[in-house]
Amino acid sequence: MFGVIDRFEKEIKATDGTDTAKSSKLEDLKALEGRASAQLEKLSDNLSALYGAQRTPQVLGALLELFVARGLERPDELKQLDAKREHDPNWFCSNKVIGSNMYVDRHCETLSKLAKEISYLKLMNVSMLHLMPTIYKTPEKDNDGGYAISDFRSVNPAIGTMDELRDLFSTMRKNGISPVMDVTINHVAHDHAWAEAAKAGDPEKLAYFFAMEETEKDEYEKHLNQVFPDIRAGNFTKNEEIGKFVWTTFMSSQWDLNYTNPKTLMAMADEMLFLLNQGAEALRMDAVPLIWKEKGTACYDLPQAQALLGVFNTMSKVAAPGTILISEAIDEPEKVKRNLSPDTCQMAYNTMTLTHFWDGLAHADASFMAETLRRHADVPQGTALLNMMRTHDDAPFFFDPGTAKALGIDIRQRHNKLGEFYLGDTGYAKAVGFAESRDREKVFLAGTTGSLAGIEKALEAGDAQQADSAIKRIRLLNGLLHSLPGVPMLNLTGGDDRGQTNDYSYMKDEIQRKDARWVNRVPRDVDFKTKSPLEIEVMNRVFSDTVDLNRTRTEMPAFGAGPMQVIDTGKAPVLGFVRRNDKQDVMVLANFSPEPQKIDPRDLLDHGMTEAVTDKIGQQKDQMLKIDAGIELAPFQCMWLVPAGGHAEQPLLARTGMP
Ligand code: GLC
Repeated sequence: MFGVIDRFEKEIKATDGTDTAKSSKLEDLKALEGRASAQLEKLSDNLSALYGAQRTPQVLGALLELFVARGLERPDELKQLDAKREHDPNWFCSNKVIGSNMYVDRHCETLSKLAKEISYLKLMNVSMLHLMPTIYKTPEKDNDGGYAISDFRSVNPAIGTMDELRDLFSTMRKNGISPVMDVTINHVAHDHAWAEAAKAGDPEKLAYFFAMEETEKDEYEKHLNQVFPDIRAGNFTKNEEIGKFVWTTFMSSQWDLNYTNPKTLMAMADEMLFLLNQGAEALRMDAVPLIWKEKGTACYDLPQAQALLGVFNTMSKVAAPGTILISEAIDEPEKVKRNLSPDTCQMAYNTMTLTHFWDGLAHADASFMAETLRRHADVPQGTALLNMMRTHDDAPFFFDPGTAKALGIDIRQRHNKLGEFYLGDTGYAKAVGFAESRDREKVFLAGTTGSLAGIEKALEAGDAQQADSAIKRIRLLNGLLHSLPGVPMLNLTGGDDRGQTNDYSYMKDEIQRKDARWVNRVPRDVDFKTKSPLEIEVMNRVFSDTVDLNRTRTEMPAFGAGPMQVIDTGKAPVLGFVRRNDKQDVMVLANFSPEPQKIDPRDLLDHGMTEAVTDKIGQQKDQMLKIDAGIELAPFQCMWLVPAGGHAEQPLLARTGMP
């Protein structure tokens, strides 16, 4: 460690720069040394878990050298960000944070046009923007929606340039919006320079990947699952140039990286540091359970995968300390949370909320959700779940088996029911089954929030009443999205902000038509000239609801970091919970039923509500509600109740003895 620092010190002193420039670099070096020392033990433990004690010192030295070199290159603007965040390390847990994601190409075509959209994002109170990976250079066609990345350092020329991206990031930051970029930590595109070199016979680059004979491939394959069985069978692709089978868990165009080779780790760390030094404030670590493989296992969710995330966490803490990592593991709550910690990924995609949103609506019953939240909503301090209605891929159902067992729920039957409800013809929803949905072993619904909630069918029927119910369903889910522990994330290219409906044009594309996920990657469409008055009304109402809830959340300190207590509302369709911190107490009630529901006043008072409350998202915001006769929730209504006057005299949960 000190050898590395000494070497950099000598180099800095030997440069031609002015004394002031040199002493500022030496100060940066000192800060890097301090951060690296603080991480040393953790880094060493993680590397030992990956490479064994003997190889660790060498890998550790090489990594530290890389982290320090890139840390020294960090632009001033980003160093200022790092310094600011040192005093606010849990910045991403605040109630002021509202996330969103967007395919630039489908939203506004180019980066220069996106710069003009910033006022729209601010109007929505969006403070974190994930630019989907079509932003990168990818193979032209078979690119898995951008997740086959050909070069982490090049922007897709149809969208813009790296200089434009850097400038955009800087403008976003000045406007309070944190940029998020994808890192496909599991794979790169088959035409990435590393893969091209491997194909051309470079043994060093070939060792970045898994290439093997058929018999060995078959040994692995026996234990593996398939991610896209409908689209492409198996986990390997024969590459004629190499003459072997290359590991490709997802599409054939995505070559899995081999981290048993520490050089692969170094190379990916360097790509990530490049992105962090361009101004990305968070990296979305794609498909994290798959990043470590061991023969004879399902090569899924192995402890080494977490150790690897720990190494990347150290990387950002040393070289770009104002930044965080986001884990994407689409799985059951416990498995999602396995990758969530201040020492691995500080944020994680949360499948628990979206699973129960759509399950709750289909069953008009929130009790499964309530029990799951009771068991799994807590997260370690300094971390946050990322809540969404559905991902850019789909709305997958991942129930917690322990909770299901405790409630006597058969998950298979639940899947069957959900499959019938959302994929059948009789209900209000319109969805397309994706991946393994057919046999109901798993159910993944592709479809926009609008179509899943009933807008598509309502518009087809020209039925204003149906449309009204659909809008209320979306408002209900939005009300929860914004009040549950964690950070809400809106899918902008899926029209979460406007209730847009499914786009079936993917069926006409030779490659996309095999992949139903395209149905919910809807190009932005705000051309009101082509729309019916009902459609315009729907879009306007969903939009103003979204703006309202986004803004109100930012005014509700209780929705920042802090615990939740799920309460018994006495009504199965009504989810109830309390959020609090030292500034505010809020009781959230959410009715999943198409019928009104009345809550007994005792159930409210028992949880510390005062006799008069206001509903912060009610029609008359500051109108006082007397709860002596109970509270009536309209169909699909969500309420954010605060004691009249804004605060309880003493924190409500202190009175109820909650920890
Ligand atoms: C993640 C992405 C998905 C992609 C896959 C492979 O699950 O969300 O869109 O296909 O990883 O990169």
